[in-house]
Amino acid sequence: MLRHQILHFLEQHPEKYVSGERISQQLNVTRAAIWKQIQVLKEEGFEIEGQSKNGYCLLKTPLALNEWVLKKALTTSSLGREITLEDELKSTNVRAKELARKGSVHGQVVLARFQSLGRGRLQRAWDSPRGGLWMSVVLRPNLSLADASKLTLAASVAIVDAFEELFSLRLKIKWPNDVVYNGLKIAGILGEVVGEWNTVQTMILGIGINVNFPREQLNPLLNATTLYEILGYEVDLNSLAAGILKHLENQVLCLEKRAFEELRANWSDRAAGLGEEVKILRGEQVIQGIFKGITIDGSLLLETDDGEKSFNAGDVQLRSKVGQYF
Ligand code: BTN
Repeated sequence: MLRHQILHFLEQHPEKYVSGERISQQLNVTRAAIWKQIQVLKEEGFEIEGQSKNGYCLLKTPLALNEWVLKKALTTSSLGREITLEDELKSTNVRAKELARKGSVHGQVVLARFQSLGRGRLQRAWDSPRGGLWMSVVLRPNLSLADASKLTLAASVAIVDAFEELFSLRLKIKWPNDVVYNGLKIAGILGEVVGEWNTVQTMILGIGINVNFPREQLNPLLNATTLYEILGYEVDLNSLAAGILKHLENQVLCLEKRAFEELRANWSDRAAGLGEEVKILRGEQVIQGIFKGITIDGSLLLETDDGEKSFNAGDVQLRSKVGQYF
């Protein structure tokens, strides 16, 4: 793509002006074509200064999702090998599933700047305004179906670690895999198995993170927050996506080596409410006890007056004893 060639050229001359003439000779196109593409890049959020005498200088890349910027930020070997980035999709999970059925590679990533029908766990809708990170990854790992649920636990650990690394922000995991800050949800994960696990072995891991937008853009009934609300400024969504994919790739490799105990320990280190009195909601039923930890499969272990009980994430919800989200 000509735009990417221009960026590549400008990037090779940091903090210097490169004349339109030189770029056009190098890329074998007219100066008018260069000028036109520079305008498109500016619309995409690239800050490019143009001086009639000296030419063009790349000052800043966009904070919004951009394929060129994201590819440059990626340090992974498999996740993000193929990237589909759309301005708008109904749901990145739905698109990722379609691509997976057509045979996409392990590590295919699908992103959208806006989702019109974002999907959450337990058949809920997922608010997905512009400025969020709405991303799905097609995984074809060397894991059995029984171990597939561990991928969502692994993804929550990866998100917490990426936030710590990029923003020195310590988030927590609310069982099973919500990511929270001071009890308010900032990210969620939706894992969906595609087709016959035994033959195809494909999972779509959907990751939704409330990033560069004010909290008011989300349903007021949700106990949610956004990174913008916490930090007070916008961050680079491309670096965030790349950071999460890096940590996720490491987690997937660990799982493939059957390092399940390590995952459980990492998850527990980052968990909210561990060792505290909690309530488990199963429909109308409320079960109280002490949150003891998770089993190797990710089920919640509760110490109740009637002994230890375990709960599966698909059936119940966790609340702190006093009723907050966490
Ligand atoms: C949850 O309920 O906590 C899970 C939310 C998962 C949302 C993400 S956003 C990217 C991907 N596409 C979707 O439609 N859902 C997931």
